[in-house]
Amino acid sequence: MSVLLTLFPGQDPLSWKTAFAELLPDEAVWLDSEVPDPSLVELAVVGARPQADFSHYPNLGAAFLLSAGVDHLIRGGLPEVPIVRLADPAMAHSMAIYATYWTIHFQREFERYRADQAQHRWEARPTSVPADFSVGILGFGTIGQVVANMVGSLGYPVNAWSRSPHEANGEKHFAGIERLDGFLAASRLVVNLLPSTPETVAILNRERLAGMEPGSFLVNIGRGVTIDTEAMLEALDSGALSGVTLDVFETEPLEADSPLWDHPSVHLTPHISGDTLLATAPAVVAANISRWRRGEEVAPIFDPSRGY
Ligand code: GLV
Repeated sequence: MSVLLTLFPGQDPLSWKTAFAELLPDEAVWLDSEVPDPSLVELAVVGARPQADFSHYPNLGAAFLLSAGVDHLIRGGLPEVPIVRLADPAMAHSMAIYATYWTIHFQREFERYRADQAQHRWEARPTSVPADFSVGILGFGTIGQVVANMVGSLGYPVNAWSRSPHEANGEKHFAGIERLDGFLAASRLVVNLLPSTPETVAILNRERLAGMEPGSFLVNIGRGVTIDTEAMLEALDSGALSGVTLDVFETEPLEADSPLWDHPSVHLTPHISGDTLLATAPAVVAANISRWRRGEEVAPIFDPSRGY
């Protein structure tokens, strides 16, 4: 039995290999440079490798991703086998903390107090309460639900949008593209968790951004392509949007000459809201590999018809 391990650039291959080898003692675990014969590779654990050529492995039975998204693979060519995405609760928790931090930052006006400090200005404003600051979760999958629970537990009213109906758990649910405008209009801050699919590219377009409550906020921890960046900058300049935080971008790394770097109302981080963690991801993936070997159900499986 054998597993091929391909990694993100920057990941320490040996630590990852050691983690998988310990968790899967019945498997031979090879880094791609170590594969003795491509026909021996039965399963692949896949980081970002845009040039990956899976046709190289004629006996590949399934691919297990070290990421929640599949878009990097789509660009490089998808293997013709079941693709299991990463659903790591620790990653979801990390993204929820990120989203909650920015929710508090904007709701408590920390931005303005920082600017006041720079001017040596002492000016207390009435403090708003979470109950008056509704947070919209755009993309209500497993990660979105963890974000909703965290901000909801602090008293922020939660709106949730997804393609199809979900059972409500305290949040106000908006299902289907025809309810997206209503969802945006009802949310003071939108946390975007949408994946990159043919349907989500520039889903936050000029009209939709203009339809948000004036002075609202946007936090993008899904994929960069889901927002029309030019329209978002216009919305910031017109005051339709008060502030945005971006962790993901159409092109990563962000181009050196992007206007986003210097915009006073844009906060940005280099795709770190939900890292793939060496401390937790191998166990999640190894458990799925063991289930697969036993012929049991594994999840979440990439569904090409949905694009995620
Ligand atoms: C990160 O963006 C991931 O897809 O896991």
